[in-house]
Amino acid sequence: MNATIVLLPGDGIGPEVVAAGRVALETIARRFAHTFTFEEHLAGGCAIDATGTALPDETLAACKRAHAVLLGAVGGPRWDSPTAKVRPEQGLLALRRGLGLYANLRPVRVHPALAELSPLKPERLAGVDLLFVRELTGGLYFGQPRLRETVAGSGGVVRAVDTLEYTDVEIRRVVRLAFRLAGPRRGKVTSIDKANVLESSRLWREEAIAVAAEFPACTLEHQLVDSAAMRLMTAAASFDVIVTENLFGDILTDEAAVLAGSLGLLPSASLGEGPLGLYEPIHGSAPDIAGQGIANPVGTILSAALLLRYSLGLEREATALERAVDGALTDGHRTHDLGGSLSTTAMTREIAHRLAPSEPVRRSLTL
Ligand code: IPM
Ligand code: MG
Repeated sequence: MNATIVLLPGDGIGPEVVAAGRVALETIARRFAHTFTFEEHLAGGCAIDATGTALPDETLAACKRAHAVLLGAVGGPRWDSPTAKVRPEQGLLALRRGLGLYANLRPVRVHPALAELSPLKPERLAGVDLLFVRELTGGLYFGQPRLRETVAGSGGVVRAVDTLEYTDVEIRRVVRLAFRLAGPRRGKVTSIDKANVLESSRLWREEAIAVAAEFPACTLEHQLVDSAAMRLMTAAASFDVIVTENLFGDILTDEAAVLAGSLGLLPSASLGEGPLGLYEPIHGSAPDIAGQGIANPVGTILSAALLLRYSLGLEREATALERAVDGALTDGHRTHDLGGSLSTTAMTREIAHRLAPSEPVRRSLTL
C-alpha cells in the first residue's frame, strides 16, 4: 500500500527516537513491499523557536492530510519558565484536539526477560498484559472555565481554576472503544473513576453501565482511582482493559510503566473516529540525555507497530515488528535505561535486522 506518514520529531530525544521509528517503518516497507512517504514537520519547543507557536497551522494541516503521525516528544527546560506565554505541551494538546483523537491507547506488557528491571517482586508481574484507554480530549485538561485571577476585595488572594467536565457523548464514545478492544482480548473492562466524590465520575459510571449493555460478551467493573493505583502495583495481572478520564489516565499510565521496567519501552496510539492516528512513546523529551544517542528507541518502534495496525490496517506487519522487538530483548540487547550499553542506533539495528533476515535488506540498512 501507499501511505503518507508525518513525522514530528519534536524536542530533546524526540528526533533520535523518531529516526529509529522511521528506520523500522522503512524496513517494514521494504520487506512487505509497501511505499511509505515521510514528511517532517515542526511541533513543540522547536516550533516555538522557529515560528512562535507550538503547533504551526502548516503542521496541523499536514497531519490532517496524512494517513498517520509519528511523534517523538515535546518540551524541555528551555521553554519551562512559569511565566512563558506559549508552552511546547500546548502544541501536543492542540494536535490531539485538532485531529479529534479522543482515545489514547497505552498497552502495558511485561517482557519476561526484563522482569528483573522492575522494582516489583516477580510474582506481581507474572501475566501482566493490560491496555489503558485514556480519554484524551476532555476532562481536566480541557474543561472550561480555566483561569487565574485576583479575588476581588480579598487583599490580593490569587485564585486558579481548572474544570473537570464531561458530556455523556464524550464518555460513551471512549468507553465503547474500550469494549470493542476488550472483545478480542479477555473481555474485561475496568472503568476507573472517583464516583464517591466527583459528579463527572458519577455520570461516567452511569454511561459506562449503559455502554456495557451493548457488549453482553464482556464484563464491566468499576474501581475508584485511588485504590486502582494501588491494585496496579499489587495485582496488575487482574486488569485487562482499563478506561478512564484524561488526568487519571495520564497519572496511572506513568505508574504502570514501573511494571514494564522502563518508561522507554511503552508505546501509545491516539485515535478518533477515522483511521488517522497519532503515535508516540509515552516517555517525554528526556533533556538530560538528549543528543547523546543513548535513548531507548523501543517505545517509538512499538508505537510505529501500533501505527501499522490501527491507521494502516497492516496487522501482519505490526505483529512482525512487535516480534522483532521481543526477539531483540529476549536475546539480551539492552539500551542504557535497561542496564545495557547499546546506542539508540545499535538497538534499532538489532530490531530491524530481525525483520529482514535476508541479506540484501540487512546490508542496505544504513543508520
Ligand atoms: C503524556 C504527557 C502529556 C500529557 C504532556 C506532555 C502534555 O504527559 O502524553 O502523557 O499530559 O498528556
Ligand atoms: Mg503523561
